[in-house]
Amino acid sequence: IELEMKIEAIEKGGYEHFMLKEIYEQPTSIRNSMLGRLNTVNGEVVMGGIEEYEHKFMNAKRIIFVACGTSWHAGLVGEYMIESLARIPVEVEYASEFRYRNPIINSDDIVIAISQSGETADTLAALEIAKEKGALIYGICNVVGSSIARATDAGSYTHAGPEIGVASTKAFTAQVTILALMALTLAKKKGSISESRYRELALELNNIPNIVEKVLETNVAVEYISDIYKDAKNFLYLGRGINFPVALEGALKLKEISYIHAEGYPAAEMKHGPIALIDADMPVVAIATKKNSYEKVVSNIQEVKARNGKIIAVVTEGDTAVKEIADHVIEIPDVDDFFDPLITVIPLQLLSYHIAVMRGCNVDQPRNLAKSVTVE
Ligand code: G6P
Repeated sequence: IELEMKIEAIEKGGYEHFMLKEIYEQPTSIRNSMLGRLNTVNGEVVMGGIEEYEHKFMNAKRIIFVACGTSWHAGLVGEYMIESLARIPVEVEYASEFRYRNPIINSDDIVIAISQSGETADTLAALEIAKEKGALIYGICNVVGSSIARATDAGSYTHAGPEIGVASTKAFTAQVTILALMALTLAKKKGSISESRYRELALELNNIPNIVEKVLETNVAVEYISDIYKDAKNFLYLGRGINFPVALEGALKLKEISYIHAEGYPAAEMKHGPIALIDADMPVVAIATKKNSYEKVVSNIQEVKARNGKIIAVVTEGDTAVKEIADHVIEIPDVDDFFDPLITVIPLQLLSYHIAVMRGCNVDQPRNLAKSVTVE
């Protein structure tokens, strides 16, 4: 037993938990996801799996993502990226729902499974249905040689390295990185992006690992905030556009490891329900970076404030408007809209981590959850 403990300590590389280690690995894991795909000199993106089936991708009427949990959230980010850059219609489905509702799938659809483990039973079953119906099936998996990876026609491994913590962190940012590369590749091939915008985005993506490194410096501030709210019974997470899935993911992380009830919502939907819950005991995490809908999110924050809710806001460095009204701000660098999820998710991962540790929860192996769900 002593030896096992020593081995585990070595595997944790000096971190108290695998989850924290994996959060801190993200500059490296994101870089690894881009390795061999993004040419840093000329900004060219090459995705082997797409090249192989270029004709299919160019003629696809629709892309359907099937996934579960955190991987489903990555799919929502992918929908935003691919629809806006490559102008291909995208649907994102819970694999468990998709498989049982006799979905309409045609041979010019592409069904893409997103799965860290590559073993999730519902996702695998959804893929098999899509294959029977003649769609091209593609995998975005982390585990090399996994069941989903083997079942697909083609795919792109995320190369995030082994993820041990049950709550997914680095696998999510790796999936989003792959989806960004796919969106760029498809947009270029379809001619739906200008050469200069393509290059600008590719080079910015290449720099994201350095930015993630900087965002990790918010850890001390996030730990301080965690201590104030660790006893809350509920949390609300708000985001818009490409940051809406990040709000879902932030809420999921908190639920999974700290057992605090949390909900993620698109900020504008607050008025259709969650606003009724807001009082002085309700912390609201708002992603309010300087993006298209910034002003709108600011007015949502004002509405929370007017009802005495507590606001923890993730803002762009140099922000002034949110600073005036929020109880706490976490400042992160400005990046292009498309890459925001890769950095806004980091403080939310850290928040759930610290709260769980402070509540004495088993961070790496939360109760009732499994790392890979190979049964229905
Ligand atoms: C489980 C894990 C989650 C994961 C989900 C999907 O619920 O605890 O972290 O997001 O399965 O897993 P997959 O391996 O398919 O991404």
